[in-house]
Amino acid sequence: MEDFTSEAGKIQKEIDKISSIAPLDQLQIKYLGRNGIINNLLKDIKNVPAEEKKDYGQKLNELKSSIGRLIETKKQELLEKSGTEQTVDITLPGKPYLHGTLHPITYAIEEISRIFEKIGFVRMSYPEVEWEYYSFEALNMPKGHPARDDFETFYIDVPEHAKLAKMVLTPHTSSGQVREMERVRKTLPAGRQAPIRMINIAKCYRRNWDATHAPMFYQFEGMVVDRGINITHLKGTIDYFAKNFFGPDREIRLRPHHFQFTEPSFETDISCNVCGGTGTVNGKKCRVCKSGWLELGGSGMIHPNVLRAGGIDPDVYTGWAFGFGPERCLMMKLGLSEIRDLYSGDIRFLKQF
Ligand code: PHE
Repeated sequence: MEDFTSEAGKIQKEIDKISSIAPLDQLQIKYLGRNGIINNLLKDIKNVPAEEKKDYGQKLNELKSSIGRLIETKKQELLEKSGTEQTVDITLPGKPYLHGTLHPITYAIEEISRIFEKIGFVRMSYPEVEWEYYSFEALNMPKGHPARDDFETFYIDVPEHAKLAKMVLTPHTSSGQVREMERVRKTLPAGRQAPIRMINIAKCYRRNWDATHAPMFYQFEGMVVDRGINITHLKGTIDYFAKNFFGPDREIRLRPHHFQFTEPSFETDISCNVCGGTGTVNGKKCRVCKSGWLELGGSGMIHPNVLRAGGIDPDVYTGWAFGFGPERCLMMKLGLSEIRDLYSGDIRFLKQF
């Protein structure tokens, strides 16, 4: 019986000599394992005289738990020393996890979609890899027409299609105009060719690379076709967009311009928020706009030839379209001057949004 008391002292000495986890684990198995010393002593209880059995059992159990405590204390001590402390200090500050966000252009596109969907526009995305036909011919720009030079196009090296001609990377979302006319017409009862309310947002490609032009960029193209559609509807819609995207104080104006696929055509401007559309700040020319206005993009009444290409009778229906850039809108909203920042993938820039 007194063996048990001295036993604890011996084990303590054994533990003191240990300086790493592995031998400590071995020691634990030696004493406390299923075939360990303690369990074997417990099995011996049958040989103990009946009047001593109770005392024997109790002492042995005390020994068992004190060995357990000694080993556990030592284990903590070793872990603390090696720096892999297992206890949790709940007073430490939490570890922040890095988390991703959507790209600012994605946010802008989502916002633009929502603004137009609210007034009944259907969001479409027409192909980035497109035929010359939908990019040009169907838009009243026959082969060899100088206006095609404005859309410096990437051509794809594949055999030409008999009717749709060469394959290109679409240089503008206007290529979706005739595609949408064809699509909607198929969904309508015979004899009806409209209404259409489309917002086509897609990637476009042109051979350009400077502070305000990237070879790949987005456009969002609005198009409405119905009976009795006129310029006031175009102006009202752009005004609604400008006020919702940029703010209620912004004004828009249409300036005469030329596009082959619209007649009349316009450049669409929005009043500058720096000078409030006056063109001057403290008696000096506004640095941002110089004139009080900033350009949003092109627009106009759809040319009869384009309606015809889409199988729509221009004597019955009229329509308008505009094509703006989400990147440009975003840059104007945030006051950015370099489109290339948006495509740099530089996390320090992107993290700001
Ligand atoms: N597609 C023209 C461009 O990319 C913009 C535009 C769209 C003009 C619709 C008129 C109507 O420059």
